[in-house]
Amino acid sequence: MYQIQLNHLVFGRVRAIRGYASLPWLQGSHQAPSVPHAFLLLLIVVCIPIFSIAQTSSPNVFSKAAVVCAHPEAARVGEGVLRKGGNAADVAFAVHFALAVVYPSAGNLGGGGFALWRSTGGEYDFLDFREKAPESATATLFLDAEGNPVPLKSTETHAASGVPGSVAGLFAFHRKYGTLNRADLLKYAIRLAEQGFSITQMQADDFNLYAEKFKSLNPSNKYLQKATDWKAGDRLVQKDLAKVLKAIQAKEEKGFYEGRTAKLIVKEMKRGNGLITYSDLKNYQAVWRKPISGTYKGYKVVSAPPPSAGGLALLQMLKLSERVDFSAFDHKSVDDIFYSTEVQRLVYADRAKFAGDPDFFSLPIDSLLSDEYLNKRAAKINPYTPNKSSDILPGHFPVLEKENTTHFSIVDEQGNAVSLTTTINDHYGSKIFVTGAGFLLNNEMDDFSIKPGTANMYGLTGMDANAIAPGKRMLSSMTPTMVEKDGKLFLILGTPGGSTIITTVYRLIIQVVDQKMTMNQAVAGKRFHHQWLPDVIFYEEDALTPEMQEELIRMGYELRLRGYIGRADCIRILPDGGIEAAPDPRGDDSAAGY
Ligand code: GLY
Repeated sequence: MYQIQLNHLVFGRVRAIRGYASLPWLQGSHQAPSVPHAFLLLLIVVCIPIFSIAQTSSPNVFSKAAVVCAHPEAARVGEGVLRKGGNAADVAFAVHFALAVVYPSAGNLGGGGFALWRSTGGEYDFLDFREKAPESATATLFLDAEGNPVPLKSTETHAASGVPGSVAGLFAFHRKYGTLNRADLLKYAIRLAEQGFSITQMQADDFNLYAEKFKSLNPSNKYLQKATDWKAGDRLVQKDLAKVLKAIQAKEEKGFYEGRTAKLIVKEMKRGNGLITYSDLKNYQAVWRKPISGTYKGYKVVSAPPPSAGGLALLQMLKLSERVDFSAFDHKSVDDIFYSTEVQRLVYADRAKFAGDPDFFSLPIDSLLSDEYLNKRAAKINPYTPNKSSDILPGHFPVLEKENTTHFSIVDEQGNAVSLTTTINDHYGSKIFVTGAGFLLNNEMDDFSIKPGTANMYGLTGMDANAIAPGKRMLSSMTPTMVEKDGKLFLILGTPGGSTIITTVYRLIIQVVDQKMTMNQAVAGKRFHHQWLPDVIFYEEDALTPEMQEELIRMGYELRLRGYIGRADCIRILPDGGIEAAPDPRGDDSAAGY
């Protein structure tokens, strides 16, 4: 009932604002169209078969197995493992370590992440290898004597680093689901670090952009630094990183959390008043959790549970969106943006208040997903007028801009699948390398609410649920997700993008499920984002036409142009079993398979 009412109101608004009163069939009317409309209808009928062909003839379609990730060298590693008979967990293991070498801005040994597994038989599992606050961390760690956040302390200092979880996580994951020898799988990353690889143009530009920062924050080492500017094709050799990888190859997790590597980490912490100790490292453990799942218009959606806010927020957005007929909207239309934005606003307000580490805080997940609650929230969406975030919950409005993380998706020959997102938080994390070890430290402590009610670097505002406490995991937005159709794997989704991760995954589902786009079309499509606070629609260049901008501003929205939103590396399983891999054209992202 509600859905029907809402749609009628939507079309009422479209007619009123955009003068579409003369398109009666959009409203489900049975009136015969006038002559120009009959012509338009004919055009649509003629175009439908062309559109259908476009939908099935995507690039990057593989028949048996595929991997899609942020760097071509890592995608090649993944394909090599697949061709050797490796399963999705073997590929995830090799690709993660390869990304730690070839994609230092987000691939990592010094970070953490989440991995979603789906077996051929459709059983799901979820591994949380998120970083943790060191044991000596306190709620006021990043505040001055007056209780105000110290600028840059939670982002560009040694204290900004949480205890890394990636190495423990990848070993735990592979031990449970992998089939090939781990020492062999590490050889790819070791070779890339020891012998080097050619950097891409984007990487050259990026290294040059960060050169001063690396120099100023790393007086004891020269990693990623060069006397002259970097150029595409320059070879990046990382001998110290290779040594760490060899220690991991020889001693598994202990090669990282104990012995020489641990010593180097602790020494680096002492150099910069960081908090991580030997016992923090030795005690780190990844945690198996039950993934969060729900349905959207008959599709099953499985995603990341807390300490990610992602899965819960994604399901809330999708449940609210069940009340809207997105299939009636072009993905570049004011209606599409209006409804998505209002849904995102409502859900991000909840994220701020209710989300945190489930080991420390009991989350009202069932209530937040209940029809009763979501009906009440949906009633706040007035089809004629945007809400004001200050009416949903009060807050302050700082700015967000940069973020980084990386995601990869894999499906193997048996049909097992992995959706894995990993991060050191910001682009190059804290930008501080562990001297002698050649890897970057994360600045994940900034994902805590360092002062409840104050925004972090993504402009995300958190409350007590996400306050710092010793051994606690900071809240994340990472949203590795899978979608099933009729009991079969349909989509593998995920993206970097800090606070924009959840809205990007949400929009990818709307675009593929409702708007019938191919995975590549959806991934390449221009993005927009709203996160409750600041009360602004962020948009990529060309996401909104000048006419759409005018109309949205007239409706009362504030718009803010920003750089790329996300780099989604996703997979769609086609009706004939083909695998459509979709690397994001915003970066060097690549697909490989056979
Ligand atoms: N550091 C980004 C996230 O976990 O959401």
